[in-house]
Amino acid sequence: MSLEQILRTQSVVVCCGTGGVGKTSIAAALALSAAQIGRRAIVITIDPARRLADAIGLRDEIGNEPVLVKQIGDGQMWATMLDVGETFDSLVTQFASDAEQVTEILNNTFYRNVSRSLSGTRDYIAAERLLALQGDDRFDLVIVDTPPTRSALAFVEAPERLARFLEHRLFRLLISPTLTGMKLISTALQPVVRTAGKIVGAAALDDAIAFLQAFAGMEDGFRQRARQSATLLRGPVTSFVLVASARADTLEEASYFADGLQRNNIAIDLVIANRMPPRFGDTAAKVALTHVQDPDGDLWRNLAQLHSEAEQADAQLAQFMLGLTSASCIRVAERSADIIDLDGITDLAASLLAP
Ligand SMILES: Nc1ncnc2c1ncn2[C@@H]1O[C@H](COP(=O)(O)OP(=O)(O)OP(=O)(O)O)[C@@H](O)[C@H]1O
Ligand SMILES: [Mg+2]
Repeated sequence: MSLEQILRTQSVVVCCGTGGVGKTSIAAALALSAAQIGRRAIVITIDPARRLADAIGLRDEIGNEPVLVKQIGDGQMWATMLDVGETFDSLVTQFASDAEQVTEILNNTFYRNVSRSLSGTRDYIAAERLLALQGDDRFDLVIVDTPPTRSALAFVEAPERLARFLEHRLFRLLISPTLTGMKLISTALQPVVRTAGKIVGAAALDDAIAFLQAFAGMEDGFRQRARQSATLLRGPVTSFVLVASARADTLEEASYFADGLQRNNIAIDLVIANRMPPRFGDTAAKVALTHVQDPDGDLWRNLAQLHSEAEQADAQLAQFMLGLTSASCIRVAERSADIIDLDGITDLAASLLAP
């Protein structure tokens, strides 16, 4: 699928790739490009660093609540940063049966720890937030900027994993209504609870059990949402855009990543090869080669060197694309400066859509 098709027709674009290749900058540029063609696009960053806000020059203004960054005719560019705790609390409020259950859970120590600090929670909540934004009438297109994680697939796999956990027999046993106190825990479960207590400490375990019991009745809501996010990520309205740089080591990582997506039944629609070495044309390169031995030929030698780097990057990229037959590819040249404001993003967007 071409970038233009993706921006015009899709509802979700996930910008993925390994660390530092330009995912955040490109995600913002994609949202701006979509706004330029009249769509109402929101870029969401699930990166705990504030890089998105920095990249578009809005240091302290972006939080969990979406902000309108730019209006272009009918098109809009919005931005939001995922606040995991806030999003989790809103899910609890949505699925609890009454105010008492909400209070009980929100004040539970185990819940506060899990919802605020576990990294797996971040991935699941990001998928949940994506679902909410996709259903929000204010936006036509949600662009997700994924974080630099050790396992870049965590975000894709998290909803499915949570759904499986909530369906697990042990979990269902733990929240069963007959378990109103530790004393009632069945003999079959006691060894499990004792072992868990030794590992995490008795007080932490009491908190966890209190949480699970307070959680009773809400698991279906959570499970359904998790299943819906998993389906959305694999559905026809979602496109995965892989950002890569044409260096052998990062392309190798990108290949692993593409394989992992494939195992999750997700195809990459577009590769954006970012930070490509600049090209000055073949003629200039040929002339340069005839001057590399000149005593004052430093500039020629630089040009020849750049040409050879560009050739190498092209060859590596071509090799990489052989493994991704259904994806199209866009090259973005290395820019002379970092991207620190909306002007930088605007330039980047222009080079994405340049023929
Ligand atoms: N085409 C480009 N030319 C020059 N600099 C670039 C280009 N694209 C991105 N950068 C710079 O590279 C750095 C990393 O970019 P960015 O934060 O977008 O990457 P990322 O993949 O989101 O990183 P992380 O994995 O840490 O989240 C930034 O300083 C950015 O300004
Ligand atoms: Mg980033």
